[in-house]
Amino acid sequence: MPTVVDRGLEGVVVGSTQLSNVEGTIGRLTYRGYDIDDLAPNATFEEIVHLLLYGHLPNRHELESLKRELGARRALPEPLINAMQSVPKTAWPMDVLRTIVSGLGLFSPVNAHGEHLSDVHTAIDLIAKMPTILAGWDRIRRDLEPVAPRTDLSQAGNFLYMRTGKVPHAIEEDALDTYLVLLADHSFNASTFAARVVASTRADIYASITAALATLQGDLHGGAASAAYRTVTEVKTPENAERYVRDILDRGQRIMGMGHREYKVRDPRARHLEAMAKELSEHVGGSPWYETAHALEEASRKVLQERKPGNTIYANVDFYTAPVLADLGVPGDEFTCLFACGRVAGWTAHVLEQLADNRLIRPQATYEGPPAGPYVPIDKRATNGVRA
Ligand code: ACO
Repeated sequence: MPTVVDRGLEGVVVGSTQLSNVEGTIGRLTYRGYDIDDLAPNATFEEIVHLLLYGHLPNRHELESLKRELGARRALPEPLINAMQSVPKTAWPMDVLRTIVSGLGLFSPVNAHGEHLSDVHTAIDLIAKMPTILAGWDRIRRDLEPVAPRTDLSQAGNFLYMRTGKVPHAIEEDALDTYLVLLADHSFNASTFAARVVASTRADIYASITAALATLQGDLHGGAASAAYRTVTEVKTPENAERYVRDILDRGQRIMGMGHREYKVRDPRARHLEAMAKELSEHVGGSPWYETAHALEEASRKVLQERKPGNTIYANVDFYTAPVLADLGVPGDEFTCLFACGRVAGWTAHVLEQLADNRLIRPQATYEGPPAGPYVPIDKRATNGVRA
């Protein structure tokens, strides 16, 4: 049994994938060989879904067919809308999303062994429905009726439409579309790995995606998106940024949205999100989010560099998510859910990739407890239950 443990599996290669590649030292992210620097300004989220699920960028006919299928699959089963209506309005959006996604499995046929079909169409179904759950919950908790999805809009456009009942401005639709493209996949990150572990037991795609959602929730992963928003709202104005950073670090806390396990340079997604945040801020006019986030990043880099010379910490994808989604009118506690609406494309593709060439994922641990010894009958135990 090896005794060396790579805590947090840092630097450990646990499998292979054809879906995406993170090159942390040069700051490059590719989906099936396409650089996100090319995809972000040019491809739509639907094209990325096709690329991840079918292995190639779609031609026009394939793209239209995928869009039709996504549109046709957006509506939720009525009992799940009713279920959301009976949830306390104070429920955390990620809890609602995870629970209702798990509930989708109840409406999908099972075979005699209780197994759901886990195929590309189930994947498209999940991708189509997650934004409907989020937009539905957003309205229900505001005491509004959910807006039925439209079949003719893009994933991004339809999500914004379902929140407000109005077709969004092209700049807003494009911004959200680019956000979804940037979030679609990221190799063996924690939530994707969780989905693959579950799939490796031959549990179905609903179980796998529910596990991925649970894993995304923590603030060392996708929960940082909502946490970064809280930070920006606490900073309030650019002038407060440096003092805020010093206070946070003095308390031994972390700046949310800064730092990354894999990237040793700035997360390539942050550059695109920053540009979008700036554009959106000009579009909405007078929004404080972009300027404040920018000042916070500058202050964080300066103070972290001062305190830990040689350990440069840069903005990650969650950092500029805050100004982008805030300027799209999305409440801060829903940011992690929107992250999931993009990442579900990658999660489902990873589940299908795992199932296509499966081996149970079952690692080992070094045991650090007491040595093996005899069972102690109850009347011979010390009063605290410890072996005498
Ligand atoms: N603020 C302050 N200090 C930081 C930060 C931060 N955001 N990130 C890392 N550090 C410091 C740590 O305190 C540590 O210092 P030390 O060596 O003196 O103890 C050093 O940098 C290394 O940090 P680790 O936690 O060992 O690095 P790891 O690779 O595990 O961390 C992580 C990556 C978890 C993302 C970390 O940078 C962090 O906590 N960031 C804030 C949360 C966040 O933004 N999460 C989203 C990540 S992106 C995503 O999941 C989509």
